[in-house]
Amino acid sequence: MDLGLAGLTVVVTGGASNIGRGIALAFAGESANVWIADRDEAQARRVAELSPERVRCIGCDVTDPASVEGMTRAVLEGAGRIDVLVNCAGWVMDRLFLEKPRDEWEREVDVTLWGFVNCTRAVLPSMIERAHGSIVSIGSDAGRIGEYREAVYSGAKAAVIAMSKAIAREVGRHGIRLNVVCPGLVPPQPEATGRESMWSGELAGVLASGEALAKAVRAYPLRRSGTAQDVADAVLFLASDRASYITGQTLSVDGGYVMV
Ligand SMILES: NC(=O)c1ccc[n+]([C@@H]2O[C@H](COP(=O)([O-])OP(=O)(O)OC[C@H]3O[C@@H](n4cnc5c(N)ncnc54)[C@H](O)[C@@H]3O)[C@@H](O)[C@H]2O)c1
Repeated sequence: MDLGLAGLTVVVTGGASNIGRGIALAFAGESANVWIADRDEAQARRVAELSPERVRCIGCDVTDPASVEGMTRAVLEGAGRIDVLVNCAGWVMDRLFLEKPRDEWEREVDVTLWGFVNCTRAVLPSMIERAHGSIVSIGSDAGRIGEYREAVYSGAKAAVIAMSKAIAREVGRHGIRLNVVCPGLVPPQPEATGRESMWSGELAGVLASGEALAKAVRAYPLRRSGTAQDVADAVLFLASDRASYITGQTLSVDGGYVMV
């Protein structure tokens, strides 16, 4: 199926690492022009080098409205338009609610919830002007069912799902669609993981043993963990005009872990 993505301008936040990296490269593979907006510029450059004609990168902190507005201005000046925004930047630290220090909650909310608000707010006016645009946000099954050891992150991802529906109701009349893709477990590949990745810290230890990963995978009906490509395939479809009658929806890409 030709998704018709060639020549579109796509911004992928968090596109330097793991899932976002896979999404950025998948859009590039469809001949879209991709801008990776990530805090980790060094890792973003490494990704851009894999597809130099199609992928550019720009430093951006999604928690900072001024940084996001600057990034949006730069892309609009450079490309003239933003057709697709993928809100992928996220962060979580796996820990029991009662044991979690406040700064970890705040980072989860800042990156996940405020990152979505800042980026979505920044790109919408130019999409409305052109009466066309698609915003696909990376949620999480945590935001659908509430995940053990991920309480505040679950709440922030649930907010991304609810905000996407609410905004989809407001901007549908302008030809703009918002949808959410919820990955299941997508373990990082070392060469695809940035220094700022949530997987570069303590979280990596959770899956360090093959045994822990095998145990986690038993909860998935399809009995495997996900890949960045699994998630990217759904994101590309929802971003494309092939999904032009789909908005306000939440799709889990998780081997059947969550069925709602
Ligand atoms: N990997 C999984 O198992 C999984 C499962 C469900 C949902 N998710 C979600 O998918 C998304 C990607 O996950 P991942 O595994 O690729 O994570 P990752 O940590 O490997 O990558 C996240 C990227 O976001 C960037 N980033 C972090 N904070 C930022 C900020 N303030 N401004 C700009 N960039 C920032 C990081 O530099 C990194 O490149 C996240 O939203 C995550 O919550 C992941």
